[in-house]
Amino acid sequence: SERRKLAAGNWKMNGTGADLSEIDALVSGHGDAGCEVLICPPATLITRMVARADGKIAVGGQDCHPAASGAHTGDISAAMLKDAGASFVITGHSERRADHGETDEIVRAKTEAGWAAGLTVIVCIGETLDEREASNTLGIIDGQLAGSVPDAATGHNLVIAYEPVWAIGTGKVPSTDQIGEVHDHIRTRLEQRFGAGVGRTVRLLYGGSVKPGNAADIFAVPNVDGALVGGASLKADDFGGIISAL
Ligand code: G3H
Repeated sequence: SERRKLAAGNWKMNGTGADLSEIDALVSGHGDAGCEVLICPPATLITRMVARADGKIAVGGQDCHPAASGAHTGDISAAMLKDAGASFVITGHSERRADHGETDEIVRAKTEAGWAAGLTVIVCIGETLDEREASNTLGIIDGQLAGSVPDAATGHNLVIAYEPVWAIGTGKVPSTDQIGEVHDHIRTRLEQRFGAGVGRTVRLLYGGSVKPGNAADIFAVPNVDGALVGGASLKADDFGGIISAL
C-alpha cells in the first residue's frame, strides 16, 4: 500500500514515570516493526517518553489548544507539544467532545493549530449508539468530516481515526463489514473533497476495543491503515500483539 501502517496508542489519563518501562519493552520488542508506532501519553510524560523512545517510537499529545499562546490556564499549545518532542497530536476525541463540549468548529481550529506547529494531527470522528441505531452513522461521519477537518489536509499532516463511541472501552466491536463500510465512505469523501492524490494517502485508523485477539481481522479490512488503541496500549505485551498483527 502507498500508506504506511500506523499503530497508535492513546494512554488517556493514565501513566506516571513508573510506566515508562512499557516504552523500553516496546522499543526492544517492536522498535524495528515495519509499521509506524506512536504513543500519546499524558503531557506530563512526553519529554521523558521521547528520551526513552530512542527515535523508534513516535510520541504525540492527546489534545491542544487552538491558540498559539495566551491566558488559558491549564491548556497546552501545539507548539509546546512540538517543543517537548511530540510529532503528532490527537484532536476531537469523543471523550473531549463529550467531557469538554468540543464542537466540530473547535476541533477544526485545534487541527489547524497542530498543523501550524508542524504536527501530524489525528482527527477523531464516530457515531454514538443512538446515531447508529437511527441509521445515521454515515450522516454523522459526513458532518464531522466536513466540520472538523480543515481545508489544508495532506497525506502527511492528517490521519483520521474512526471510533464508534459505543465501541470505546466497552469490548464491543463493529463487524468487519460495518468497519469497512465506514472506512470506504471516509475514503470516498476525502477523495471527493481533497482530490484522489491526497484522499488516497490519508491514513484511516479504526479505534474502539482493539485487542491483540481481534486486531488481525480488523487490519484485514480494506481502507483500515492501523488502529488508535486505548486500554490495550498501556501494556507493551498487549500493544505489541497489536503491532505484530499490523
Ligand atoms: O483513543 C482510543 C480509543 O478511544 C479506544 O479506546 O481501545 O480503550 O476502546 P479503547
